[in-house]
Amino acid sequence: MNNENQTAVTIEHRNHVGLVTVNYAPVNALSQAVRAGLVDAIEQLEADFNTKVIVIRCEGRTFIAGADIKEFGKPPTAPFLPDVVNRIEACEKPVIASLFGTSLGGGFEVALACHYRVAINSAKVGLPEVNLGLIPGAGGTQRSMRLLGPKQALDMVTSGKHVGVTALKDSGLTDAIFEKDLDKNTIAFAEQLIAEGKLTPRRVGEMNVLGDFDWQAAKAGIVKKARGKDAPVVAFDVMEKTQAMSISDGMAYEREQFLILRKSEQSAALIHAFGAEKAASKLSIDAKPLDVVKVGIIGGGNMGSGIATAFLSSKFSVQLIEQTEEALEGGLGRIKGNFAGNVKRGRMSQQAADDCVAQLNGSIDYQTLADCDLVIEAVFEDIDVKKTLFAKLDDVCKADAILATNTSYLDIDEIAATISRPQQVVGMHFFSPANIMKLMEVVKADKTSDQVVATAMNVGKKLKKVSVLVGVCFGFAGNRMYTRYGREIQQMLLEGATVEQIDKAMTGWGMAMGPLAVQDLSGIDIGHNARSAQPFPEHDQGYFRAAATMVEAGRLGRKTQAGFYTYGEDGKPQNDPQVEELLRAKAKSLGITQRKIDAEEIVDRALFALISEGLALMEAGIVQRLSDIDVIWLHGYGFPRHKGGPMFQAQQLGDVNVANSLADLQNQFGEDIWPITDTDAMG
Ligand code: 3HC
Repeated sequence: MNNENQTAVTIEHRNHVGLVTVNYAPVNALSQAVRAGLVDAIEQLEADFNTKVIVIRCEGRTFIAGADIKEFGKPPTAPFLPDVVNRIEACEKPVIASLFGTSLGGGFEVALACHYRVAINSAKVGLPEVNLGLIPGAGGTQRSMRLLGPKQALDMVTSGKHVGVTALKDSGLTDAIFEKDLDKNTIAFAEQLIAEGKLTPRRVGEMNVLGDFDWQAAKAGIVKKARGKDAPVVAFDVMEKTQAMSISDGMAYEREQFLILRKSEQSAALIHAFGAEKAASKLSIDAKPLDVVKVGIIGGGNMGSGIATAFLSSKFSVQLIEQTEEALEGGLGRIKGNFAGNVKRGRMSQQAADDCVAQLNGSIDYQTLADCDLVIEAVFEDIDVKKTLFAKLDDVCKADAILATNTSYLDIDEIAATISRPQQVVGMHFFSPANIMKLMEVVKADKTSDQVVATAMNVGKKLKKVSVLVGVCFGFAGNRMYTRYGREIQQMLLEGATVEQIDKAMTGWGMAMGPLAVQDLSGIDIGHNARSAQPFPEHDQGYFRAAATMVEAGRLGRKTQAGFYTYGEDGKPQNDPQVEELLRAKAKSLGITQRKIDAEEIVDRALFALISEGLALMEAGIVQRLSDIDVIWLHGYGFPRHKGGPMFQAQQLGDVNVANSLADLQNQFGEDIWPITDTDAMG
């Protein structure tokens, strides 16, 4: 064994049991050193006369959590994982995997190649490769269908879900599940095999796949759930095609398809998304977060009650403040309603919901915020209202309390400047519904202290949100880009693209919802009112005129049964010729000549609007990294994960192509609408 392998994988002897320990922090990923170490260890112990049974176990927080993501994109190095797992399975002595934490991907493939599997009862297993645009590449499709049966295996491989070992108890996955003392019990299990003389290996690869499974019936559901992702469909095809093959032929085909997917843009996008999320959570500042236990929330409307629900669900105690007793009752009712909904949908038990609600209090008296560690306001979007409120908070809150605003657009520097402790003011911008949506923008204002930023990011983690640090500007990162995107969509409506055409083009490309259906859902008047507070951009005659036209016609969206679409009794959107008529008339009055616009132009202009604004945000220092923008769009705006995010799309095109396309748009529509954006940040 070379030195690195020796530290990543070590051997110990316990009487006739050979213990192979993987110790490769943080998650025992299958780096080259671990792969080589495993092969060396198996070969040494197989040749060791004294060893009768071998155990593979891990140090640290988990059994092997998969292939080493850090090695993706680099040339593969021997020994390759399929050879490693095959060598383990071929071992002439029984090999036991001792599972805890999350045995994922290649880690689960190692476990499946062992002859026995034992586990602690909290252990989970999974084949999450589809989440990275891949399929298992080291026998995972083959051995899972032999051991668990095609139905369970297909479900795991195509969904990527982690499954508890106790849920798989009857499937034959494990030979023993322990409540505690995993190491001690694993060795006892090994010793019992020796005592009973069970010294021949039991190879999953030599089993047959059950023959009575209806593959075709399963296919439609898998294709539907994949929603444009290739990997789950490829996984299905691989499993169906290889079900009757030998393990070696099946693994050869699996590997071939794995390698094709590994070169795909979807896989690059999904791996980028995984890395982007990890990067976004990292701060370059060195400050210890403050403890936050009690949180004050001002405003019990949809936003405030959603935020309160999120905090209560993560075991914080919440003090809700409203202006009147009636409004307070309404807010408390909404929060309790959210928990009742969770119970009804089976998301949590009644007891768990009751425990959360027990931490909720409400008042109309601001003095009750005096002992809160963090206060978040979610009141009406008006700078003067917010300034008055912050002055009150300045009076009643304790000295080190963090004072946060959930504003979507307003200038946080201006709010902070009016109180005595601007360093305690931060933006915590949740997305609606705040108890469901994963994204939170943490907005650092000019004077916000590092400790307050670190605390807000840490709170985001406790809320299980994806938090991204951004700076102050109109709309911060997400909504500023959303405004630019919306502007372009609205302009195309005036130029002659239809509502249906736009939504179809964007959902066809992969967006979760069409942008105009989104407007109808959230209420066209909401954005319209927010924009009305800003000066109208004189250079942009069409600026959100389509939305204004709808509002003028009383078409506010779903809530008035009419917006860009008309909604029948069944709530389904229908195209309405009146909308086309209204837009045609508006275009005419603005001197805009209508023409036919195809899906490609719609997608290109929408995407380049995002790219152009994203580059401008980077240039202005509003975001720390281009990939932070992708995280925002993946989690806040329904951008398809398998397309990586707008800035990943830009990077795929390359800086020269992006610069050329932006220049073309500028020539066609003018410098005011398509200002020059520097592509250097893509470097
Ligand atoms: N390779 C390398 N590093 C990894 C890793 C991996 N597969 N998975 C996680 N890490 C790192 C993270 O980057 C992070 O590093 P940091 O502390 O420096 O930021 C650290 O491990 C801890 O990760 P998390 O913060 O995510 O910790 P959690 O406890 O929340 O979650 C986890 C742990 C469940 C293992 C989660 O990280 C995860 O889901 N990882 C991805 C696992 C995966 O997709 N495995 C399959 C890989 S594909 C494969 O195996 C192909 C094979 O079939 C051929």
